This record gives sequence, structure tokens and C-alpha cells, in this order.
Amino acid sequence: MMKRILTGDRTTGRLHLGHYVGSLQNRVKLQNEYDTFIILADIQALTTHFQRPELINESIYDVAIDNLSVGLDPNNITMFLQSKISAIAELTVFYSMLVSVNSLRHNPTIKTEAKQYGYDDLSYGFLGYPVSQTADITFCNADLVPVGDDQLPHIEQSRKIARRFNNLYGRGQVVIKEPQALISNTPRLIGLDGNSKMGKSLGNAIYLADTIEDVNAKVKSAVTDRNRISIKDKGNPDICTVSKYHEAFNHSEYENICEMCKNANIGCVACKNLLAKKINCLIAPFREKRAYYEEHKSEVRDIILAGSEKANIVGKKTVEEIKKAMSIQIE
Ligand code: TRP
Repeated sequence: MMKRILTGDRTTGRLHLGHYVGSLQNRVKLQNEYDTFIILADIQALTTHFQRPELINESIYDVAIDNLSVGLDPNNITMFLQSKISAIAELTVFYSMLVSVNSLRHNPTIKTEAKQYGYDDLSYGFLGYPVSQTADITFCNADLVPVGDDQLPHIEQSRKIARRFNNLYGRGQVVIKEPQALISNTPRLIGLDGNSKMGKSLGNAIYLADTIEDVNAKVKSAVTDRNRISIKDKGNPDICTVSKYHEAFNHSEYENICEMCKNANIGCVACKNLLAKKINCLIAPFREKRAYYEEHKSEVRDIILAGSEKANIVGKKTVEEIKKAMSIQIE
């Protein structure tokens, strides 16, 4: 039996190259080795975007198509919509009894995100999203969760909940499998502005849905070594965004380009042109797939609905087992 992985994205806008480098690329490989479940997390999206339900709704198709366009095979994976899976809602309630508010408050990712969103008084839903995420992972008995390191505290929380559940209600049996993180080892992609993270909300991203012209213009705007004013100045690739992108997207020429930059043998314009070409080359096949799915939205809908149906069957069984273990039933 193949091991199962579960991962996915909040539906709060299109995915960008940071997502590609950090997770999508890996997903495409993993789908051949694992039974792959991809969650379109529209409920979790509400924790921060509850005032923008239309954006969340539109993003369901955008995020689904982003995933399909990079090569996730709909015949091979189970892509489903979080809000359609009743087991996730039910498990979230049961698990909420097993988590202390303080442990959620001390979760480093919750803290960082709360600061980022400017929350001082956290909503119950936001504070508790690691609990709901535990339901996302365990409703289908996932063995592994491929995520970036920012999600590690959440996986740890999920493991604790599973352990606690099993100790309390398992009578020596494992009812809820303890999931394991599968950390992607690619370094995080920085933003076009040199910010340490490429992010939707930071306005410094190249989107998978960007056109050739978008990519060219964005790469042109990328921050380079600010001390390099003339083409004759020697550059410092260590503080240049474009060099970091060459490392990620043009690895074979990376060392060479750094050397040329350091010796003032290549100018920033030429260097950026090379990069834009590389990125456009990478995205070209994605654009083709995207165009197809944009034309065939009903197919995307069918993929999501079929995936959700399958996920619901798995989820119903899990809820039955959990309720039985917790004696939530009458004879
Ligand atoms: N929190 C994840 C993110 O922001 C998205 C997500 C929701 C997720 N549910 C999940 C990831 C379950 C892994 C497993 O990227």
C-alpha cells in the first residue's frame, strides 16, 4: 500500500514562484510515490480573509488551476475542497477539547502571522486554525505532510492531538495516525524587492499566471546590488535578488554568472534578460496547461467535486471510528 500525503493551500489568491519552489515542484514529484491528497483550504482562508468571501471563492479555481498547471495529474491525485468535507468540521470540534489555548497562543507561526496581519485580539477561528488543520490531515489518515518549515509547529500540534486522542480513547490502539512532516529542503525564495519572502500580500511576487511581458517587467524591476551604479562597477551577487533567482531557476549557469558579475563582465540588464528568459522557459509548459483548464473550467469543477466525494467517503469512516472510540453513540 502506498503511503498517503496531504498538503495544500489556502484559497486567498493565486500562487507564485515562491510556492512553486517551496512546495508545488515537490508535489509534482511526490504524486508518483504517494497517494496524494491536495486540500483547497477555503475554510482556513476565512481565518484571515473572512471579510472577503468572494476573493476566497474565486481563488478556489485559481489555486486549483495553479496546481494542475504545474503538472499535478488529476487522474493520479485527490484534490478536494475543504468546506465540502464534513468530517473536517466534525473532527475540529472533537479535537478542540484536547488542545490548550495557551499552547495555541505560544505557537510561533500563529504569533508571526498575527503580527503580520496586525491582530492584537485574535479570533477564536484564527487562534484555532492549527486544530482545524489537524482535522485536514487526520480525516484521511495521512502519513506525511509536505510543508515548509513555517508549518512545523502546526504538525507538532497535530501529532500531540493524535497522541492525546489515542491515549485517552484508543484503549491501546491507534485510532488517529500521528502525521509526520516532510520538509522541503529548498531555500525560501526571496521577493523581487529583496524582502526575505516572496508573498502575495507583499506585492513582490511573480505569479505562475503571469504573462511573458509580466515576467519581463517584474524581473526588470528586481532589486540588485544597489552599490553597482555603472556597468563598469564590480557587482556583489550576495546582495542581489537576481543572483538568488539565477541560483533557483538557472542553476547550471549560476556560478558563472556570479563570477561575471563580480568582475563586471556582465551588466544587470543582460543578467536580468537571461533570467527572465529562464523563468519564461520554466513557465511556458505551465501556461499551456493553464490555458486548457481556463477554457475547460467545468473539467476543473468535476475534478474538485470528484475529489471531494472521494475524500468524504474516507472522512465518514474516520468520523465513525472516532465517535466509536469516544463513545459518542447510542445503541
Ligand atoms: N496552512 C497551509 C498554508 O498556509 C495550508 C493548509 C491548510 C495545509 N490545511 C493544510 C497544509 C493541511 C498542510 C496540511 O500553506
